[in-house]
Amino acid sequence: MKPEEIAKLVHVGRPDAPYGARRLARCYDIADLARVARRRLPSGAAGYLDGGGEGEWSLRRNRLAFGELELIPRALRDVSEVDTTTTVLGCNLPAPIICSPVGGPRMFHHEGELAVARAVAHAKIAYGVSTLATQPLEAVAEAAGDAPVWFQLYLWGDRSDARALVRRAKRAGYRALLLSIDCAVRSERDRELHRGIALPTPQLDLKTLLDGAIHPDWSWHFLTSPALGFPNLSMSGPSSRDKLEQMFDGTLTWEDLEWIREEWDGPIALKGVLRVDEAREAVARGLDAVIVSNHGGRQLDRVPATLEVLPEIVEAVGDDIEVLFDSGVRRGSDIVTALCLGAKAVLVGRAHLYGLAAAGEAGVRHAIDILERELKMAMALCGARALGDLDRSLLRPAAPPDLDPTHARAVQAAISS
Ligand SMILES: Cc1cc2nc3c(=O)[nH]c(=O)nc-3n(C[C@H](O)[C@H](O)[C@H](O)COP(=O)(O)O)c2cc1C
Repeated sequence: MKPEEIAKLVHVGRPDAPYGARRLARCYDIADLARVARRRLPSGAAGYLDGGGEGEWSLRRNRLAFGELELIPRALRDVSEVDTTTTVLGCNLPAPIICSPVGGPRMFHHEGELAVARAVAHAKIAYGVSTLATQPLEAVAEAAGDAPVWFQLYLWGDRSDARALVRRAKRAGYRALLLSIDCAVRSERDRELHRGIALPTPQLDLKTLLDGAIHPDWSWHFLTSPALGFPNLSMSGPSSRDKLEQMFDGTLTWEDLEWIREEWDGPIALKGVLRVDEAREAVARGLDAVIVSNHGGRQLDRVPATLEVLPEIVEAVGDDIEVLFDSGVRRGSDIVTALCLGAKAVLVGRAHLYGLAAAGEAGVRHAIDILERELKMAMALCGARALGDLDRSLLRPAAPPDLDPTHARAVQAAISS
């Protein structure tokens, strides 16, 4: 038998390696990517990725809320073609999915934002880049090619650095500005404290060193690539670490929007809206979008699941402003649910980060593919040919737990996915 014939036999039954990354071969959904990511990351980095504020009540609520709604599909419609295209903040997108801004992605993969940017360049979806990015924002914009990049702003100190940063983002071609409002002060996360990872000064003790030793691939890349820093903070004056210490000083107010408007003439979204009155204020101030978000359950613990507050915010301002949604999205059916409740699009944080940690650019591309595939499938199975066909008539509350013996299992699955 010839070697190529043997190779074919050996290959029988082995799934393809998405984008050449063998470790993604058995990753069929985001939960699979999360498992690979957690295996590859030291526990400190994994804790930073997975964790939520304090005791993580809101983190759990975000997932459970999806389990409290069911989809009632419409059948007998021609769904041979499903159109997921949309326009968000003036950007034409192939799907209502945006990679959300995250601080410190080089903790998960040594290329950090550059890997994500190359992945969105292929998918042509939008990417929000954090003030706490670990790559220069110009390099990220360039790597994203034609895909739209949005800049997420945090403020600190006397605002002059923030003004300069906004101008820099504009020059670099960022198309929208996201102002995160849910980080007045830094939150505490029990999980990070226990694992010694609390930024900006992670502990380096025997435990973390041993943790690094049993994750040699991550450690090798971490130690052989440039030191992790925040290159967009250190334009002038104190080091980026000092500036990080000054951030979240509690001084952000509505008045800041006035100078932001002077610097930025493109679309602006408020990220972290959980209240109807704040959504109305955003409309009154002429903003372009609100992002219903609780920061993935990472800031104030005991806030409601974002899915719970989405309907009242859509009802109040949905005709006047774009309402985007995040926190807890892991599946195409989650996206369908949020869109049925009136969201224009969803941002995904951990879902793309699990891909990043699992296999860099290939992992993010695979994560986006999974979400797009699942979204199309869920839409087709709901009888929706276009995003406009998704409405509340496709939803109903799930049976209450005492009537539904499968509820406990569903809740458990929601928590662990
Ligand atoms: C590791 C990590 C870091 C984050 N850093 C930021 C940040 O710098 N700025 C920001 O606005 N949101 C940040 N977020 C929140 C995300 O933008 C997004 O709101 C959240 O991840 C959505 O929830 P999900 O992870 O369940 O999708 C971060 C989230 C994670 C997981």
